[in-house]
Amino acid sequence: MKLQQDHYKAPARWLHWTVAALVLAMIPVGALMVQEGLGRSLQNSLFIFHKNTGVIVGLLVTARLLYRWRNPPPKLPQGLPLWQRRVAFWTHAFLYTLIVIMPISGYVRVRSGGFPIELLDAMGIGTLLPKSDAVANAAKSLHYAGAWALVILVAMHIGAALQHALIKRDGVFERMWPRKD
Ligand code: HEM
Repeated sequence: MKLQQDHYKAPARWLHWTVAALVLAMIPVGALMVQEGLGRSLQNSLFIFHKNTGVIVGLLVTARLLYRWRNPPPKLPQGLPLWQRRVAFWTHAFLYTLIVIMPISGYVRVRSGGFPIELLDAMGIGTLLPKSDAVANAAKSLHYAGAWALVILVAMHIGAALQHALIKRDGVFERMWPRKD
């Protein structure tokens, strides 16, 4: 049954799909680049992609949160069962938390490890953190745990989105899908 509801505004949809595409690229690239036995030049290229795209993701997530704060999202349709509304709320809350934690922990891991972030360095934005192996290792552990939590939540999120799009066909998926308005 098609439920009566509002949809996300264009900037929210653009930010959602751009961040989604970048995060979906960051996870496999991050997992691949730390493997042993990769050639030095491939590994360097993956690290450079990961660090610098990660900074861009951090900026986009900041923009997304600011936009969401000024433009609250449409309410979920009343017809959805309470438990599904609760799962959706907490999944989204944890997803937002993780996409904030990942760029910050990545930045801290790299900068307190004393390594470059080429994009920021080229813009003359030096490190904000002193070198510290203890801090770098703590950030590395957080980044690693966050990556696994993110994989689980992204899988839940995509599963729920597909269920709405293909099985329930209740219009919830279309709220975020590109449209002319
Ligand atoms: C949404 C953003 C991000 C996602 C989803 C992400 C994801 C990942 C994943 C899945 C790994 C592999 C973890 C492992 O198996 O050890 C990883 C590692 C890494 N990431 Fe990220 N990352 C993000 C942002 C960043 C940023 C902004 C930086 C730095 C500026 C960064 C730097 C690193 C580094 C240096 C490693 C290797 C850690 C190590 O083994 O020392 N990441 N990331």
